[in-house]
Amino acid sequence: MDFRDRTIILGVTGGIAIHKSLDLASQLVKQGTSVHVVMTENATRLVQPLQFQVISRNPVLLNPFDTGADWKPPHIDLADRADLLAIVPATANIIGKLANGIADDALSTVAVSVHCPILLAPAMNGHMYQNPFVQRNLSMLKTHGVHFIEPASGDLACGYEGVGRLNTVETILEGVGNILTSTPSLETQDLQGVRVLVTAGATREYIDPVRFITNPSSGKMGYAIAEAAAQRGAEVQLVSGTATVSAPIGIKTQHVETTLEMYDALLETFNKTDVVIMAGAPADYRPREFTPHKIKKTADTLTLPLERNPDIAQTLGERKTHQTVVCFAAETNDLLENAKQKLIRKNCDLIVANDILAEGAGFQSNTNIVTLLDRDGTCEQLPRSSKRDVADAILTKVVSIRNGTK
Ligand SMILES: Cc1cc2nc3c(=O)[nH]c(=O)nc-3n(C[C@H](O)[C@H](O)[C@H](O)COP(=O)(O)O)c2cc1C
Repeated sequence: MDFRDRTIILGVTGGIAIHKSLDLASQLVKQGTSVHVVMTENATRLVQPLQFQVISRNPVLLNPFDTGADWKPPHIDLADRADLLAIVPATANIIGKLANGIADDALSTVAVSVHCPILLAPAMNGHMYQNPFVQRNLSMLKTHGVHFIEPASGDLACGYEGVGRLNTVETILEGVGNILTSTPSLETQDLQGVRVLVTAGATREYIDPVRFITNPSSGKMGYAIAEAAAQRGAEVQLVSGTATVSAPIGIKTQHVETTLEMYDALLETFNKTDVVIMAGAPADYRPREFTPHKIKKTADTLTLPLERNPDIAQTLGERKTHQTVVCFAAETNDLLENAKQKLIRKNCDLIVANDILAEGAGFQSNTNIVTLLDRDGTCEQLPRSSKRDVADAILTKVVSIRNGTK
């Protein structure tokens, strides 16, 4: 792998596997990467910063207040130049800080300042790793698109056996390579100035003031697309139904409840957009009548007449002029056949087909398994990947469709 011209911030924390980080820094430098090490105070108790300085051939950042003669604080300067922040090893402590947005030293301050992908290689005692608070923090970071090199099982330095060993340097290098090849470098922001409209989450169709019809969409896929597009330079507008995770920070978001509200929001913006990616899950039907008072439990059965909601994807497909329209096909059977028909019927440019019943795919999951189908009949099957990686793959495809390069 060749990482020439790429800039990596290597975050180093106070974990016993810190020596592997020295090896990682050395391998990255050999491959032509510009490596900038940021160490926590506890990391410096285990390894001298000078070792990282010599290996990385760059000064090690220990204190964000060491500005020297520069006007720009060093954590912002580094964060602005980085293609990747890799924290190896990542202690339970830094994982907790990241998950809670704490910025109280050089590394945690850099971590909240970067706008590049973040990769964590956790390593710790097995009990620490299984600790419910640590697990909650890990899953929160995964939801927000942080990449992980999962720890391996085996003998741990603390004398225990179990999950928690820092993975091998080769595996970490492979992870770094995968991220750098799937994300464009900061110099090539391939969606710079492109107006991207994204939908996410589920809609609610109210039966009475306290009951509604909905679906389990979590919003994670649409949010990952919105975040990835913004990172690639797009002007992103998000139209979000209800979601189980918080909406991405810094992205213009319009919250809607019903399919009709989502439809209106999209039609209003459609003419002023270049790309629309519909990862949201609007309900196809709504109750024909809304009962203004809570329906009483009297009859043994209750029949609810439903009526069709407008088909948002179909409408945008019909009205499109210059826009690139991307739809999702969440299917439970005959995935590719149904997706192909949807692509034609809705006149969209790209369909992201996913079998929502497959393990590791669909609603709620942090990962997805999708196939990308375009109008030329090209079919690209992606392996099970994090929703953030799926988002980047979709955007790469959108860029090639728009450039006519596929
Ligand atoms: C010898 C030694 C080894 C440690 N190894 C780990 C480790 O592998 N993983 C971990 O999460 N914490 C480990 N700790 C605990 C952390 O160093 C401690 O939680 C510290 O506050 C982490 O600070 P930092 O994240 O700012 O570097 C170790 C502590 C000692 C004394």
